Amino acid sequence: MTARILDGQAVADRIRAQIAQDAAAFKTKTGYAPGLGAVLAGDNPASAQYVRMKRKACEQVGITSVAHLMNANSTQQEVEAVVKALNDDPAIHGILVQLPLPPQINEERVLRLVSLEKDVDGFHPINIGLLGMKGREPLFTPATPTGCMVLLQEAGAQVNGANAVVLGRSNIVGLPVALMLIKANATVTVVHSKTKDIPRVVADADIVIAAIGQPRFVKGSWLKPGAVVIDVGTNRIDDPTAEKGYRYVGDVEFETAVDVAGVITRVPGGVGPMTIAMLLQNTMKAAQRRAAFG
Ligand code: GUN
Repeated sequence: MTARILDGQAVADRIRAQIAQDAAAFKTKTGYAPGLGAVLAGDNPASAQYVRMKRKACEQVGITSVAHLMNANSTQQEVEAVVKALNDDPAIHGILVQLPLPPQINEERVLRLVSLEKDVDGFHPINIGLLGMKGREPLFTPATPTGCMVLLQEAGAQVNGANAVVLGRSNIVGLPVALMLIKANATVTVVHSKTKDIPRVVADADIVIAAIGQPRFVKGSWLKPGAVVIDVGTNRIDDPTAEKGYRYVGDVEFETAVDVAGVITRVPGGVGPMTIAMLLQNTMKAAQRRAAFG
């Protein structure tokens, strides 16, 4: 069996086209565009690249973005002052604090400061808490986990009643995607560095979300035939045959997994484009919500 390859770029493009229409209609109605405020502290090249990509995507769909680029020595007070100013700015509907923050900055205090109504990354502890609670709904859900859930829908996966295995328990992906799967009535197992016999756990999974940050960690031989496999990993590995001397691979060994899975995403071109599309969608939603409440 060869898996159907789910094209995350195509799904993201379709969502972005819809957001562009919504943003244009919003501007016609209100006279202003939705606005995203991005905070980037430090000189992590990957973070800088992500923020550039997110801002470019905003521009393409008609969302105004402003970036606060702060140096790596910024103080807690300075970062908090920027977040407070964005909270108070009526032209800003969504706030994105790119993670990780430099080591001297207390991330929790910064994320807690973001106005709930502008928390388009869904990282405020109240939004994460609501995500985890039965019968409650957060205002926003984090971008990458939401992108995974949309891809599962696109895959035609039956989440209700499925056995789902999430590899990784990060605050950004593993934990929130596990909470979202529980909300969608999956039976969820979270695999992490202390888990025993990981292949045995994965063998039971109808749905596998790999977000462990280890290149090609999940092998095809571990998978249940027909499983839906969403690969969140973006790992840079040396490749002398590549033009730049490196390339990106996921957390799943694609070549072996594709022969066993039912549906699978690729890296790149899978979850990555969805993360950006979901951020745009959350920003659009924040602006619409703000306009509706006046
Ligand atoms: N760092 C890695 N992924 C993300 C993300 O989705 N949002 C933010 N703010 N930082 C990140």
